[in-house]
Amino acid sequence: MSLPSHVQLIDVGPRDGLQNEKQAVPAAIKMELVHRLQDAGLKNIEVTSFVSPKWVPQMADNAEVMAGIKRQAGVRYSVLTPNLQGFEAALKSAPDEIVVFGSASEAFSQKNINCSIAESIERFAPVVQAALNAGIAVRGAMSCTVGCPYEGDVAPERVAYLAGLMHGIGVQHVGVADTIGVGTPRKVQDAIEATLTHYPLSAISGHFHDTYGQALANTLMALQMGVTHFDTSVTGLGGCPYAKGATGNVATEDVVYMLHGMGIDTGIDLDKLIDAGMFISQFLQRPSQSRAANALFARRHHGA
Ligand code: HMG
Ligand code: MG
Repeated sequence: MSLPSHVQLIDVGPRDGLQNEKQAVPAAIKMELVHRLQDAGLKNIEVTSFVSPKWVPQMADNAEVMAGIKRQAGVRYSVLTPNLQGFEAALKSAPDEIVVFGSASEAFSQKNINCSIAESIERFAPVVQAALNAGIAVRGAMSCTVGCPYEGDVAPERVAYLAGLMHGIGVQHVGVADTIGVGTPRKVQDAIEATLTHYPLSAISGHFHDTYGQALANTLMALQMGVTHFDTSVTGLGGCPYAKGATGNVATEDVVYMLHGMGIDTGIDLDKLIDAGMFISQFLQRPSQSRAANALFARRHHGA
């Protein structure tokens, strides 16, 4: 087993995290969260999504947030774009990367983006082309690669099928997502192996929600397979509005703690990251979901 010396984390908290919040989060708070994340050393931040405000009202301030953030050189700002309408709106905000998001399960595709997997690929194709023509990086998120809230277990063949379609339309990098956090390491391994039939390891990231407390174990499995990119969410914020009961992504702080403890560099200052997490937790009036952040925060204040 050889482990990488450096791992790249994308903090998806401002998007995957906040999209699921019932209470309106002001644009200024979202911007402040992005600023704190970049100050903590995050080099890739998923800021918002250009989806229908009727479907996800929390992301309706996408353009305002993108216009308001003070960008740092070397940081990649990503946004979700489900169709050309979203892409054209996003383009005005000059994202560094756009994310098209499909599903390995038909039922989730219908619930989340109101179309079949095949139709979603037809919609993504011109978006991907337009982005690449504009010099914008393209990532694909693959939802439900181990389990679906509507269909149950998802076979690796479904993942390979979706990865092949994503590859066919020019998506450069794909995220293997466990949308509802039901996966265990062997299942995640199968989903990643299925993805490897179309993408090299360097173009695959792990995106693990932590509903069943498996996300850190799944991250370690992916890491041992050679995956070096992970989507994580500060304080473990979030979930998907179309995956009821699913909790947020694995907390960025927990992954950073694990990686640094293993001697793997992330470029992230864990103390500053904890402060970013405490900032948004205070706003939401909710404790952080990160075990490491809570433990380190307590030690900071009470000694241990
Ligand atoms: P639709 O209703 O099929 O779209 O929605 P449509 O093309 O038929 O248009 C209907 C209306 O929506 C029209 O407005 C359009 O203008 C508008 P009306 O004429 O009725 O006033 N519309 C839009 N408005 C703004 N931005 C757009 C846009 N497109 C159409 N881009 C659509 C299709 C995809 C838009 C819809 O289903 C939608 O917005 N879904 C939200 C999906 C979403 O954001 N889900 C959460 C993110 S995915 C996720 O969390 C999973 C991930 O983390 C990985 C994982 O964990 O699995 C990525
Ligand atoms: Mg997600």
